[in-house]
Amino acid sequence: MRDFEKYGKWAVVTGASSGIGREFAKELATAGKKIVLVARTEATLRQTLEDDLDASHRIVVADLSTPEGLQALDDETRKLDVGLVVHSAGLAHAGGFLEESPKIDAALQAIHITATVEIARLFGERLVNRGGGGLILVSSGFGFAPIPYAAVYGAAKAFVISFGEALAVELRSKSIDVLIVIPGATKTNMSVKLAEQIDMSKVPMPHGDPRKVARVGLAALGRKDSVVPGGMNKIMALMAGLMSRRMAKAQFGKLLRSALIIRPS
Ligand SMILES: NC(=O)c1ccc[n+]([C@@H]2O[C@H](COP(=O)([O-])OP(=O)(O)OC[C@H]3O[C@@H](n4cnc5c(N)ncnc54)[C@H](OP(=O)(O)O)[C@@H]3O)[C@@H](O)[C@H]2O)c1
Repeated sequence: MRDFEKYGKWAVVTGASSGIGREFAKELATAGKKIVLVARTEATLRQTLEDDLDASHRIVVADLSTPEGLQALDDETRKLDVGLVVHSAGLAHAGGFLEESPKIDAALQAIHITATVEIARLFGERLVNRGGGGLILVSSGFGFAPIPYAAVYGAAKAFVISFGEALAVELRSKSIDVLIVIPGATKTNMSVKLAEQIDMSKVPMPHGDPRKVARVGLAALGRKDSVVPGGMNKIMALMAGLMSRRMAKAQFGKLLRSALIIRPS
């Protein structure tokens, strides 16, 4: 296990009650950090504390897609020496854009775009004031190319990659390590929910282990600006980079359309 001394006493992990965020919280606790676990559902946060951590860690119940939730996160962490922030909270949705509920689109944008920017601003200033730290943003392989039938989710994840890589350059001189973690399909609650929208038997994507995503992410922090966990995901990222954008969007569109459980008209 690496030495995370530089990243202070406390780590804030959003989406810490499930999947990739939960694994980040567990790994960081093993490395000696105190964790602030953030999500909307108090019961699952408490369950995570009970099952995987202990009462010396803290929970913040907040909907980060709202200004009130972001304010609560600010208020409840202000007195702590937070040196590392992992923004893993998120949701995904697949389907035809015009068939999609505007409410879902708004939630996708709020958690993946607005909350990402606000969390980076809020903690960026605090990390500068304490002399440095780390910020990990969780994106997705869907951020590498336009994804027809997951257009808003894919574009939001592309935003995270672009924004995060730009911040990594800007904040380096202030001793802040910014890392974009770009997982492929991963076995979590999100993939279970997505399987209600996409027939996974038609999508040749092996589902990786969320613990591996967290471990690979933490190993890359301070060493790279972005990381793609998993050999197969690296190959897919390489292929997306090699394909023309025209070909990539056509291929992804064909694949997802054929796999959608409810096909758009
Ligand atoms: N699983 C995959 O295949 C995959 C692939 C690529 C990228 N990713 C990305 O990885 C990240 C983590 O996803 P996951 O697979 O670990 O999903 P997950 O198991 O469904 O966990 C999502 C976490 O985010 C929290 N959350 C959702 N909306 C929130 C909100 N508005 N405010 C605060 N917390 C919120 C959830 O708790 P509450 O519901 O209680 O709030 C939960 O703790 C996401 O950004 C996702 O886009 C996932």
